[in-house]
Amino acid sequence: MAWCFRDIRRHMCMLMRQNFAKSCEKKLNDQINMELKASHQYLAMAYHFDRSDISSPGMHRFFLKASAEEREHAEKIMTYMNKRGGLIILSSVPQPLPCFANSLDALKHAMKMELEVNKHLLDLHALAGKEADPNLCDFIEANFLQEQVDGQKILADYISQLEKAQSQVGEFLFDKYMGSGMHPAK
Ligand SMILES: [Fe+2]
Ligand SMILES: [Fe+2]
Repeated sequence: MAWCFRDIRRHMCMLMRQNFAKSCEKKLNDQINMELKASHQYLAMAYHFDRSDISSPGMHRFFLKASAEEREHAEKIMTYMNKRGGLIILSSVPQPLPCFANSLDALKHAMKMELEVNKHLLDLHALAGKEADPNLCDFIEANFLQEQVDGQKILADYISQLEKAQSQVGEFLFDKYMGSGMHPAK
């Protein structure tokens, strides 16, 4: 059977493929699509908080940066996929939730999303271990696991601070005073 140009190119790609299970390739594609979905959702959130009737420039900047970071994550995995001789398959990105009642609501949704992404990364890492793929384990550990945990701590801090500002104003303000450096020797 005659090979078309695409098949030949694909075969050349496969020549350098080694110890890269199909199951890992599929899970990596799922991860790419999860990152792009998160990027799309954060972009929607960023411009929701930029609306003139909402006007929260801090939230706008935070979610805009988050959106760019998720796209970077997707591209990092796509670059890796090509290095391993895998085939990138992008799916359509679901429509993001269009608006949120307030900042707390949006931050809680972001936390839920990050925990889902982290769960998928941990599953991917476990699969790479099961398939005896140390290169993939190393890639996930070096580029994603710690950054995920750091990001989740930041979100949890923002949620706690905002909840405190809403329900325990005295506690919230007193902590700002404690952190103000008014008595640096103590
Ligand atoms: Fe991410
Ligand atoms: Fe993230």
